[in-house]
Amino acid sequence: MKTLIIYGTKHGSTEKCSNLLKAKLQGDIVVVNIKKDLVPDINLFDNIILGSSIYMGQIQKEIKNFCIQSLNVLKSKKVGIFICGMNEKEVKTLFSNQFPEELVTSATAKEYFGGEFILKNMNFLERFIMKKVAKIDKDTSTLSEENINKFAQLINT
Ligand SMILES: Cc1cc2nc3c(=O)[nH]c(=O)nc-3n(C[C@H](O)[C@H](O)[C@H](O)COP(=O)(O)O)c2cc1C
Repeated sequence: MKTLIIYGTKHGSTEKCSNLLKAKLQGDIVVVNIKKDLVPDINLFDNIILGSSIYMGQIQKEIKNFCIQSLNVLKSKKVGIFICGMNEKEVKTLFSNQFPEELVTSATAKEYFGGEFILKNMNFLERFIMKKVAKIDKDTSTLSEENINKFAQLINT
């Protein structure tokens, strides 16, 4: 069984989740950062996992474009989709809004993995927004190992 995890991240939380997930999946796993790495031919994999963080209600545009361009092949695979973000309620409504509806409907696993605020990783504007709008002024993590386990179990069976 071959699995490809393709993720989009800005500050590294989604990369962290991709590697945590990798450790829980069976078979051969390849992990690629869509902004930095060449994405291999997805036809060569049985399972495709797509992961992205959310900024201002939007997933990473590279992941969004990849899903649109590869929709036909993706529909023939076992697919899992995960999102990293800090607003669980909002994220749960974003799957069908941000990913192609057909893909979301046919996906084997869809999960919210939580998120992180690491102030030193943010630029000035992001830090400002977090302090003023979200009222967050210290590092915070809501990454959910439980949700990652649930997701891995669905992909493994
Ligand atoms: C400027 C900014 C905007 C954000 N907007 C959202 C949002 O709309 N919804 C949400 O759930 N989380 C939001 N977040 C939280 C990020 O999704 C969270 O920090 C995530 O862990 C980042 O993952 P990454 O490091 O992989 O990019 C935002 C964070 C920042 C700094």
